[in-house]
Amino acid sequence: MSATQNPVFTDWTPQHAELFKHQPLRLAHRLHESPLFSRAALASLIENYPRKSYNLVHMGPAGQRRLWREGEIGDLSGTEVIDAIENGRIWINLRDVRKIDRRYDELLTGVFDELKQRMPDFDTENQGMGILISSPKAQVYYHCDLPGQALWQIMGRKRLYLYPNTPPFLQPHDLEDIALFGHEIDMPYQPWFEEHATAYDLEPGQMMHWPLNAPHRVENFDCLNVSMTMEYWTQEIRRKHIVNVGNAILRSRLGVTPKSRATDGPGFLAKAVMQKALKNRKWTMRGAEKKGRPPVDFRLDRARLGQIVDLPKVDASPAAV
Ligand SMILES: [Fe+2]
Repeated sequence: MSATQNPVFTDWTPQHAELFKHQPLRLAHRLHESPLFSRAALASLIENYPRKSYNLVHMGPAGQRRLWREGEIGDLSGTEVIDAIENGRIWINLRDVRKIDRRYDELLTGVFDELKQRMPDFDTENQGMGILISSPKAQVYYHCDLPGQALWQIMGRKRLYLYPNTPPFLQPHDLEDIALFGHEIDMPYQPWFEEHATAYDLEPGQMMHWPLNAPHRVENFDCLNVSMTMEYWTQEIRRKHIVNVGNAILRSRLGVTPKSRATDGPGFLAKAVMQKALKNRKWTMRGAEKKGRPPVDFRLDRARLGQIVDLPKVDASPAAV
């Protein structure tokens, strides 16, 4: 794909290059026209998706956010899985798609190549994508993400609420908790934050990119939704991550309130060295991440698409991390 011949971004102007990263941007794209995102292609992708690389979540009754349960697709075909999502309160997140299927890897490479053509200074690493298929009216609660993020709408409509990436909406210790423990969804939220939110409606052929770490939440309209999430790291984002983890360790393990968020200089280097030294300790991010994953306790019901069947309880003793 090239920025001039068959661009992914169809309404890009030079101003967008200047605004990118600094301001929320809603841009037009053509990924929803790709055969890789047809219902049939997605069904076949789901059918062959490794169990360890997807999350299937049942959201429980409306309004009860703590009742999220993790499940598996069981013996349903990909088409039936999508039908179940369309009729239930379920979402499936196909993670690391580019590692699972080379065609999506090529698609994402094309997107980043085009961004690099349009913004020569945009040097990214560890680019990733996920495909999120979610039920009508499904919600993603208030959270922020550590890497650079964009949301591409493929099917259905949703509303994205975006908040400033500054206190009180985002506090340094929120980023630290996420960096160390992966607690994205536990960010403090107040209903009055809504007065400061900007809402963006997204339909197929639109995508959003927003400033780093900007908190957001999402509400689906009353229809099946398919979205692609895209993430990337840059040198700058990686350095910020080192600061977040370093400050998290200072605050939560050593009882020191971190004073600096500098991404260079002696303090930064000390944090980087400390993390290398502590990399495999059990309370670092990796260990915490494993610990926090809920057990798989349901499968989709083939006879009643949209409903779930409880799996027998397994007495899982906590794995050593
Ligand atoms: Fe997010």
